[in-house]
Amino acid sequence: MIFEKQTHSIKHVAIIMDGNGRWANLRSHPRVWGHVRGSGVVADIVEEADNLGINALTMYAFSTENWSRPHTEVKVLFNLLHKFLKRERCRILKNNIRFKIMGDISNLPAQTKNLISELEIESQYNTGLKLTFAFGYGGRSEITQAFNKFVRSNPGQEITEEDIAKNLMIPDLGDVDLLIRTGGDHRVSNFLLWQIAYAEFYFTETKWPDFSTEEFRNILECVSKRERRFGSLNPACDFKTNVEQARTNNILLRG
Ligand code: FPP
Repeated sequence: MIFEKQTHSIKHVAIIMDGNGRWANLRSHPRVWGHVRGSGVVADIVEEADNLGINALTMYAFSTENWSRPHTEVKVLFNLLHKFLKRERCRILKNNIRFKIMGDISNLPAQTKNLISELEIESQYNTGLKLTFAFGYGGRSEITQAFNKFVRSNPGQEITEEDIAKNLMIPDLGDVDLLIRTGGDHRVSNFLLWQIAYAEFYFTETKWPDFSTEEFRNILECVSKRERRFGSLNPACDFKTNVEQARTNNILLRG
């Protein structure tokens, strides 16, 4: 094990858990079987992220576009969320994890909404991993809502990037450092559009039900070695930059 707790700069990890349906179909099972198996993987990855000292883990469990799936599949996904909350509640609280849902959950069954709000309230002051499920979530909708929220309370005022960031669904999640997508597709699919501006991306062929804590660690280790410059230059280039700057000044002075 090389990737160690606290020795990395990856604070916020976002995951698009894709490939459940194909995983099941390849095994001649109905698509929903992939979701069932995939929901078991969620708890393992949460535990691993917590062990590794990641600050925030945001998982895409149901997008606004997923509403167009067959009713039975949508029902299974609701059910899996419900079961996850019941099964993992104690562990979440014991491990000092703060749990939140981001997205529109108004169409969820009342019992599931109750479980969600209970756990959100019980865990609200927890200081460990910030675990967020994006459910009924869409990135464009989040940005639009943030914009409208600001405009309502500040009519006529010009909006800044800070204003948008402050009015997102869960402002304290901050920017995403690493976005992982399983299932082999190379898309963002309307996930955390604002927060991924400077994220590192990692796409794996592994379908979500086969995703393991070992692969998760390997990805973190691999990505933590990448050089992130946030549009600037590597400090190691400073000397080169200074020499270049002097040459540029000379050129400018000489006209
Ligand atoms: C994408 O796979 C996955 C989803 C639409 C849902 C992800 C949900 C889970 C992993 C289970 C939910 C569990 C909890 C605890 C909330 P897909 O069906 O689009 O796969 P495909 O690309 O192979 O069709």
